[in-house]
Amino acid sequence: MSIDIAVVGSCNLDLVVNVENIPKVGQTVLGGDLSRIPGGKGANQAVAAARLGYRSSMIGRVGDDETGIFLRECLEKDGVETTSLLVTAETPSGIAMIAVQNDGDNSIVVSPGANAHLTPEDIAEAQTVSNATIVLTQAEIPIETVLAAARNAKGTFVWNPAPAPEEIVPLELLDLVDVLIPNQTELSLLAGTGAIDSVEKAVEAARTLPCASVVVTLGADGAVVVVNNDAVHVPAPKVNPIDTTGAGDAFCAALCGGLSQGSDFVAAVSEAVRVGAATTLVAGAQSSFPTSDQVNARLENR
Ligand code: RIB
Repeated sequence: MSIDIAVVGSCNLDLVVNVENIPKVGQTVLGGDLSRIPGGKGANQAVAAARLGYRSSMIGRVGDDETGIFLRECLEKDGVETTSLLVTAETPSGIAMIAVQNDGDNSIVVSPGANAHLTPEDIAEAQTVSNATIVLTQAEIPIETVLAAARNAKGTFVWNPAPAPEEIVPLELLDLVDVLIPNQTELSLLAGTGAIDSVEKAVEAARTLPCASVVVTLGADGAVVVVNNDAVHVPAPKVNPIDTTGAGDAFCAALCGGLSQGSDFVAAVSEAVRVGAATTLVAGAQSSFPTSDQVNARLENR
């Protein structure tokens, strides 16, 4: 089958607890019951794309544990192609510990486990990377593996640099990026600027990067598309979020899905902000990703 979006990235099991307020350093708080929800930015983007009707594949690594079996089953249940989802022996699968507070904001600690073992050689052997219309990556796998995906992609190469990379980003990677999708924090880190707290600052910072196109996500304020000399701000529908986990992943999936079908940037981003907003109205990561019909229904009933 031909693939619209090949996702190279992480698979995690999310251990989620709802709390009134995220604890400060040194503080202990009591929360609700623990939920175990499939997550990981890579797997999330592959599943979100599949729910929206795009053909997606997952290139990544899980551990040789029960969690790895569960994470693979979740991807396959949603129709994600998993030929290049590999197993790392004697290694645990990735885990994310997530606290979600009352206003829907979260705080996440990731234990990468097998995700840290995804190598450039794995990417060279993954057929869907060279066949897909779009190759989509994040930053929960080694940076040299992201670079290998950029080098091997024949279609459009998209990088969502989340979470904000702590190591130095090779200039070659930024040069190879066709579409960069950072949030304000990730953009300020990549562009080496101070805090980005306005659309104007986001546009200015995006223009300093060598990437062909930049789509900056602005949370409740939507997103801004910067392509060549044009910059267009796309506002988001107003919602009262229950849980923002995975909203950025759903945004990336919807944007790449639209681009894979030939939509122009502004049309694809307009749909992506709707999908992102609809995702915040249901708890969890993969548990919250809507089908196209559900996007409309959730936003009408908000
Ligand atoms: O983007 C949300 C994801 O970040 C969660 O599912 C968690 O696994 C972390 O990777």
